[in-house]
Amino acid sequence: MCGIIGYTGYSEARGILLKGLKTLEYRGYDSAGISVYHPDFNECLTVKCKGRVEDLEKKACDVKGKTGIGHTRWATHGGVSDENSHPHKFGGVTVVHNGIIENYETIKNTLKVADKLKSQTDSEIAAALIERCFDGNPEKAIADAVKKLTGTYAFAIMFDDVPDTIYAVRNVSPIVCCKNDDGAYIASDIMAIGEYSNEYFVLPEFSIAKITKDSIEVKDFNGNDVGVDMLELNWDIKNNGKCGYPFYMEKEIMEQPDVIEKTISGRVKNNLPDFSCDNIDENIFKDCKSISVIACGTAMHAGLIGKYLIESVCSVPVSVYMASEYMYTNPIVNEDTLVICVSQSGETIDTLEALKYAKSHGAKTLSIVNVRGSSIARESDNVIYTQAGPEIAVASTKAYTTQVAVFYLITAKTALLRGCLNNEGTSDFVEQIMKIPKAVEDVLNRRKDIHYLSKSMLTAEHTFMIGRGMDYPALLEASLKLKEISYIHSEAFASGELKHGTIALITNGTPVVALMTQHYLSSKQTSNIREVQSRGAYVINFVKKSLKSDDMQHCFELPELEDEFMLIPSVVALQLLAYYVSADKGLDVDKPRNLAKVVTVE
Ligand code: M6R
Repeated sequence: MCGIIGYTGYSEARGILLKGLKTLEYRGYDSAGISVYHPDFNECLTVKCKGRVEDLEKKACDVKGKTGIGHTRWATHGGVSDENSHPHKFGGVTVVHNGIIENYETIKNTLKVADKLKSQTDSEIAAALIERCFDGNPEKAIADAVKKLTGTYAFAIMFDDVPDTIYAVRNVSPIVCCKNDDGAYIASDIMAIGEYSNEYFVLPEFSIAKITKDSIEVKDFNGNDVGVDMLELNWDIKNNGKCGYPFYMEKEIMEQPDVIEKTISGRVKNNLPDFSCDNIDENIFKDCKSISVIACGTAMHAGLIGKYLIESVCSVPVSVYMASEYMYTNPIVNEDTLVICVSQSGETIDTLEALKYAKSHGAKTLSIVNVRGSSIARESDNVIYTQAGPEIAVASTKAYTTQVAVFYLITAKTALLRGCLNNEGTSDFVEQIMKIPKAVEDVLNRRKDIHYLSKSMLTAEHTFMIGRGMDYPALLEASLKLKEISYIHSEAFASGELKHGTIALITNGTPVVALMTQHYLSSKQTSNIREVQSRGAYVINFVKKSLKSDDMQHCFELPELEDEFMLIPSVVALQLLAYYVSADKGLDVDKPRNLAKVVTVE
């Protein structure tokens, strides 16, 4: 979704801002713009347009100046147009804004500025409000203005009257800041400025950063200094290209053996699960009476696997909630509940709000997050970081498999602490977990076979994915992957459920993906496959080697692991299926239409 970048320093701002915006493209956007303080005219000049950053780059050839702010916009209030793109200027105040101002209509009416506005955005009204509050003191104007706002926001602000200075303020939506000898930088996302320094900080909520070329000062609304926690960047952002792959998604799929291994290996000691590197309170696994997993999309699918594992191995009841629905369903949550939030970005607003709700009802909280220092990580009592590294493709792959790897470890730990498995049993379980990266590698080495199978789906409009037991949540994820990047309608079904209605949609040639990795369910799954086949379905089987039968015509053999550990290699195979369909259809695999990598609106 929307992205912010800001720079003030000794170099020309244009290149730095455009580069930052290009890095932020992965979040999803529909227009872009920059404003730079022009030294000759003593004011901020803006160039903005709908479309891609390359379009902006062409329009912004002549921009001069060493202080500026930039933005990529994902439309919420007002359609996709040049006028609605950011930055917005009102009087001498220029702003870029992430988030949503809920009371913008009221403010517009109070300020009586309707006839002066150039856009339909809530953000321009925020600019007008700051301008009306400005009497020469920028910090006071910002504090007075944001006190009147309801909603979420991250603002970068420039005043024509205050040259070469950027101000930033936020509520919920993140802002990160860093500096080096060449100047100071702010962004909504460390990816945009990580190359300039290995140290950065997240601007605390409701404080104002004043950014000049030599310093970043942070004060509260009363003008008192605010301390910040410096974070170390542990991702190699400079080296974050596609490494020869046509799309980030393929690169990220290929990285999985390595990142799963990294996620597991630091958390196993003497063949037992060990979270000492995370410094978490392990009693949370022992003392809770129930677990609620809260997440969205792919991260929620990882939670479904967590439920399956924890309930079957540890007999602890686990509920999985879509974060966007959580607090509206009167969930049972109290001090005996362990809430586990799962999020790649750590910024998904639905998950963040659900986490705050659970905390306010006394729950103990743990988050499984990929981005260090992200809002969800900071809000949680305990954090386990996946080691997926930067995930750029909108379709989540390596973040998901590392989240699932963490759930395997949590299951092992919980089982050990609760006496569901003894030391030997836990160590056997951990040994199986450690075999997963090799099995994934085996799938990747045979990816050409999946590419070949994927050809039959290129012209499909609808497809169904069927499986039983743990294969069903794996297919929910596979189905989402196919939908989001290939635009083929796909539904995952627990195979036994199909005959209760949906089988009516199976006709001659309907593509059906059948996943079979669970021995104890294989005869039932075989019958379900025959049911769709006899109605004309074109079945593509993804089957564990030992369960393969001769009549499976279109088939990919999955490597042999114990049933509970088949999930990750199966999903990796199905990620590749979705990837090849999308790439061969000539689609923009990494940036599917309408989607954003970081979802910061409810
Ligand atoms: O950053 P998060 O893991 O919280 O994001 C949650 C979902 O938005 C995300 O998984 C989404 O479903 C992906 N597009 C799936 O590929």
